[in-house]
Amino acid sequence: MFMFLAAFQLQSSECLAFACSEKSIFILAGQSNMAGRGGVAKGTWDGCVPRECRPDPRILRLNANLVWEEAREPLHAGIDTSNPCGVGPGMSFANLVLERDPCLGVIGLVPCAFGGTNITRWKRGSELYNRLLTRAYAALQDGGKIRAILWYQGESDSTDETRAKMYKMRLIEFFLDIRRDLASPALPIVQVALASDVGPYFEVVREAQLRTELPNVVCVDAMGLEVKENDTLHLTTSAQVQLGKMLANAFLRIGI
Ligand SMILES: *[C@@H]1O[C@H](CO)[C@@H](O)[C@H](O)[C@H]1NC(C)=O
Ligand SMILES: *[C@@H]1O[C@H](CO)[C@@H](O)[C@H](O)[C@H]1NC(C)=O
Repeated sequence: MFMFLAAFQLQSSECLAFACSEKSIFILAGQSNMAGRGGVAKGTWDGCVPRECRPDPRILRLNANLVWEEAREPLHAGIDTSNPCGVGPGMSFANLVLERDPCLGVIGLVPCAFGGTNITRWKRGSELYNRLLTRAYAALQDGGKIRAILWYQGESDSTDETRAKMYKMRLIEFFLDIRRDLASPALPIVQVALASDVGPYFEVVREAQLRTELPNVVCVDAMGLEVKENDTLHLTTSAQVQLGKMLANAFLRIGI
């Protein structure tokens, strides 16, 4: 009955403050495919925003100045400054999560990804690691709860055999460190198994991602999603929309 009412009342904005008070925070991290390159060609984003990625007053992002604002594409603008950003998985993730579970309330996205980074760049104590923590703490400042980390990274570790073999150990270390530093030892992590073949050892990296074998760490497989023409690395806009939905479904399955 309550679910029915909640869904029904969602039509009117005045009930939202009542039904949904706590902000649900998601941290997005990894490299360029998490930051989003959908729709970017010759250094320019085409500005196309699919319906699934539309802004919504209930979806916020923590911007580069640690201020909440209404989220819109490109979600990582000002945060991944390595290259021009386009569409990533974050907005379609947030829109679907809200649609499926309106009582999650306001969604706060904390983009932290940075293009071209190998797993060592995310090691505890590194600049990116510290930035992620700073952003996560800032996100929690006015309340809310971190619901999950969304993680898509590893292309940069697939070019060298030794590094690819070290990937699983380094990934697990990163996940455990970040959970410890966020004081949330069971924090759900939804990661992505690589879609694109950048290095000869990408199957080794994929294997580590698909079989991380940690509690509350799940993996969605991006293999088969469309990669941009003349670009062996980056997902297209429509592939990113699809990936966001896969991440949302995986998150909703593990619940919490
Ligand atoms: C990771 O990337 C950094 C900077 O690009 C590089 O200096 C380092 O050798 C790489 N390390 C590994 C283990 O891949
Ligand atoms: C891809 O490369 C081919 C051959 O160089 C070119 O004709 C085509 O326009 C390129 N496509 C895009 C989307 O850049």
